[in-house]
Amino acid sequence: MVQETIYGKYETYLPQILENLSQKIQKENQRVKANTGFKLFEHFLARVKTNDSMIEKCQRKQLPLTAESALKDIRDAIGIRIICGFVDDIYKTVDLLKKMDGISISNEKDYIYNAKPNGYRSYHLILEIETPFEDCLGQSPGKYFAEVQLRTIAMDSWASLEHQMKYKHDIKNPERIAKELKRCADELASCDLSMQTIRNLIAESGD
Ligand code: GTP
Ligand code: MG
Repeated sequence: MVQETIYGKYETYLPQILENLSQKIQKENQRVKANTGFKLFEHFLARVKTNDSMIEKCQRKQLPLTAESALKDIRDAIGIRIICGFVDDIYKTVDLLKKMDGISISNEKDYIYNAKPNGYRSYHLILEIETPFEDCLGQSPGKYFAEVQLRTIAMDSWASLEHQMKYKHDIKNPERIAKELKRCADELASCDLSMQTIRNLIAESGD
């Protein structure tokens, strides 16, 4: 017999909800591309959090190992990362996500306007999605959460580098590296702003 995961019988719904949501967002990107000639985002990543990672997260947050913890207390079982070319495109994509049918915003964090002290920048949304499936509170149609992280290409490469450091515990000079990372994050942010400005100048100087 196959062992049940922490998601229990709701596990099978998660990839389907993720797929539906992904298709909806990708379609919007194509629609914008057809209307304006520009894509809103360059890369799109989607994942369901693995059983092991979800168990680890529940333990870290001292939550009981139940489907309700995994799907209602923790809200990133379903996760999407959207990588944009320019900062303005992040805000345009956020507006678009907010207008989508069957989706409401349950939490919103602008770590671009308010960068974390370590230099982390991204826009985070927690979506609450109406689905045709039952949820773990017995509601049908049920509601499921999904986390969307929106970043520029620069913010994304910075976050992966910083992530590598966080999970390496035998680093010799962590203060020095943290300081260099912070400096780098601020320089990348300044570059992102310049890129946006140049793009606007190019757009204005056309026709
Ligand atoms: P959890 O991390 O989910 O407990 O929630 P939180 O309420 O602290 O959420 P937050 O929005 O701050 O972070 C959610 C996710 O964003 C994390 O799981 C990471 O994927 C990413 N993230 C947040 N802060 C950092 C950071 O400093 N560095 C990196 N590399 N990623 C971060
Ligand atoms: Mg997290």
